[in-house]
Amino acid sequence: MRRLVTILGATGSVGRSARDVIAENPDHLAVAAVVAGRDVSGVAQVARETGARFAAIADETLAGALREALAGSGIAHGAGRTAVLEAASLDSDIVVSAISGAAGLEATFASLLPGRVVALANKESLVCAGEAVMAQASRVGARILPLDSEHNALFQVLGTEPVSAIRSMTLTASGGPFRTWRAERIAAATPEQALAHPNYAMGAKITIDSASMMNKGLELIEARFLFQLGADQIDVLVHPQQIVHGLVNFRDGSVSAGMAIPDMRVAAAHCLGVDGRLDAPQDRFLDLASCAPLVFERPDLARFPALGLAMAALAEGGAAPAILNAANEIAVAAFLARQIPFWAIPALVEAVCAQPSGQGREAPASVAAALAIDQDARNRTRLLLSEGRFAVT
Ligand SMILES: NC(=O)c1ccc[n+]([C@@H]2O[C@H](COP(=O)([O-])OP(=O)(O)OC[C@H]3O[C@@H](n4cnc5c(N)ncnc54)[C@H](OP(=O)(O)O)[C@@H]3O)[C@@H](O)[C@H]2O)c1
Repeated sequence: MRRLVTILGATGSVGRSARDVIAENPDHLAVAAVVAGRDVSGVAQVARETGARFAAIADETLAGALREALAGSGIAHGAGRTAVLEAASLDSDIVVSAISGAAGLEATFASLLPGRVVALANKESLVCAGEAVMAQASRVGARILPLDSEHNALFQVLGTEPVSAIRSMTLTASGGPFRTWRAERIAAATPEQALAHPNYAMGAKITIDSASMMNKGLELIEARFLFQLGADQIDVLVHPQQIVHGLVNFRDGSVSAGMAIPDMRVAAAHCLGVDGRLDAPQDRFLDLASCAPLVFERPDLARFPALGLAMAALAEGGAAPAILNAANEIAVAAFLARQIPFWAIPALVEAVCAQPSGQGREAPASVAAALAIDQDARNRTRLLLSEGRFAVT
């Protein structure tokens, strides 16, 4: 029997990886519904190619354009928040949650239904509302399978070992394009330089986060909720080849590493295979000898302060991760729009995190509470931006 898959963020980088795996396994997988943000022609094309039954676009003003793009296809469609949530809750076995940013939180939450597998790439869902999302999954009987490659590797390595067997977990990081750069050079990096990730072609937001290493910080927070670990049980190792994605350090001194080539289709295939294994094409197998020597380094928090800020938010817990994430999303967008220099991304995030939050510092118990914290932090970040202190001079 073929499993039906809904792809939230179907036009994006992770969405494309999921579509590739589905196309490689037509006997096992089929697409139920697809969702995008604003790319009408992209989502319409994906819907037609994959034979989806439903397509949704988040931007309500694009309803007419989507109707036109799907004319004659027989594919049901909708626009706006309710259409996205409809797609997330539509009948399917697996939902790939790959919308970028906190914008993916509501749809991730809506996709948590009894018996569902949610392949989670949208780390912001856990960063912003980790307790609420994990509690809902367990309450309704939905399974969250990590699609982020590091977490997927750790999940596979962990297998059926209990949390009590773990001393700590290590997430690896490529170190991004600025791994060997001096601090002054990083501070003045351009969007083009920051967008040149050494190993992965990803969406712009996560690529900038990889350059600042904020991405790894967000992943630490994601891991804390996924694996129910203490903040002091998760650390980072820079590993530029990204062959080892994660290490589980067991209480008895044993260390297990999760390895694969740096290609999101590997983690996607694991999630979409659910409890079995799908066959991968030859070019996706790891030839370890050709990657040697594998290099590992400790992260440098002085040159990559964003990672330190995320670690502080992880340690503080409560609303801190949601605040950090919201400030970072605004700061990254401002950097990409050339309004602020690269150094100002962590500086702005730090300034927002240090302010009192209009929504308190408690962990959000619901999606609505998380969105209120997110909105408050966005407003405060925009206010600081408008003061011009961080502007490009
Ligand atoms: N790329 C990777 O290798 C990778 C690895 C691990 C984890 N992740 C995580 O996966 C998520 C997606 O990353 P990505 O690199 O695939 O991003 P991306 O290439 O920018 O794609 C984002 C997707 O989300 C859609 N989208 C944006 N805003 C939306 C909204 N408000 N409502 C509905 N859909 C919306 C986009 O649609 P449009 O095309 O219309 O904008 C697009 O389909 C992020 O959380 C990221 O951290 C990514």
